[in-house]
Amino acid sequence: MSGSLAVSLRRQQLIARVREGFRMAYGVDPTRFYAAPGRVNLIGDHTDYNAGLVLPCAIDRETIIAVGPADESDKTPRIHTVALDMGSVRDAFSIEGEIERAGNNWQNHIRGVAHFLRSRGVALRPARLAIGGDIPMGAGLSSSAALGVGTALALSDLAGQPLDPPDLASVAQKAESAFAGVACGIMDQMASACSMVGHAFLLDCRSLEHMPIPISDQLSIIVIDSGIRRQLEETGYNERREECEKAAEHYGLASLRPLTPALLEEGRGDLSDVIYRRARHVVSETARVEPTAVALVKGQTAELAQLMRASHHSLRDDFEVSIDPIDRLVSLIGTAIGDNGGVRMTGGGFGGSVVVLAKHEMIDIVTQVVETRYNPDAEIPASVQVYEAHAGAAQLTAG
Ligand code: GLA
Repeated sequence: MSGSLAVSLRRQQLIARVREGFRMAYGVDPTRFYAAPGRVNLIGDHTDYNAGLVLPCAIDRETIIAVGPADESDKTPRIHTVALDMGSVRDAFSIEGEIERAGNNWQNHIRGVAHFLRSRGVALRPARLAIGGDIPMGAGLSSSAALGVGTALALSDLAGQPLDPPDLASVAQKAESAFAGVACGIMDQMASACSMVGHAFLLDCRSLEHMPIPISDQLSIIVIDSGIRRQLEETGYNERREECEKAAEHYGLASLRPLTPALLEEGRGDLSDVIYRRARHVVSETARVEPTAVALVKGQTAELAQLMRASHHSLRDDFEVSIDPIDRLVSLIGTAIGDNGGVRMTGGGFGGSVVVLAKHEMIDIVTQVVETRYNPDAEIPASVQVYEAHAGAAQLTAG
């Protein structure tokens, strides 16, 4: 089956499931559908909130949001939601006054989006939403960014004031930060909102300038999910961000972006070893992003191997966001594929996934290594997926 046929079949099944979930929850049919993809970051981790460069790629796994108008008997204007992948748990909140936070994390993503849409002047309409998808949750593939971006698109479009993709990303990021407690950067939401099919997404997080990067047709995007789940708000994510802020302050900068290797050394002074290493990671990682984009276009696997290895080592040793099982996966796969591709941890860290960019014939080799060398000794078995580079969030016509 060709890639695009598989994508549309997968999506049709997802839409059918979400439509059914909507009917079960509300007893009527939805009127519109929206989709927002997850993303895998190819290189440039923990650089986004330092105003650096990143190179993510939207994947063909997505969140679908089915929308319908509110029940006419509902006296207060409210937004109702049902999360089909979370035991069909429901939420409803008033859009009359202040939008309040809820106890639960996924609900806060939606409430946060509603809040920040309104503060941009979007006149929210009462609505009913059903949400479901196939982005693995907690795998470092940005299921929460897709939820935020998809909700922002759905609610702004329903209000007759659809926002541009970068604005959708901004609303979703603010919601995640202020309502869900993760001081995340802008990478995941921008990738989910703005990506182009068949392309990675080169983003300058200082200017928000971005450029689609065509992925060589000789390369596959292989993602190994370690199965190890940590919520970002429970990990050292926010702490890393504070450490980077301390480093920037030490160098007298608003962000670490202007720091060069030479300035890093010259201005080191009494900076503690830990904070120095955090800054060194950000400087070296940002410098790897553009060369990786070039190698991705040209299908230069030896360059990818070298750049992604250096990225992994920096995240492991300088930024300290990797964990032993992920290091083991990276090392086993790296040895097996050699110069036929690159491998590194991806995303926020502390678990999640490993990404491989390699020649197509490496898919079987990677799968075999995971199944025969890693899984037998692993507490949690890892799984291998091959993803296609997908387009950003959109309204679907398949309703
Ligand atoms: C998470 C955050 C992003 C980014 C990555 C690390 O995915 O949501 O903003 O900081 O971690 O690169």
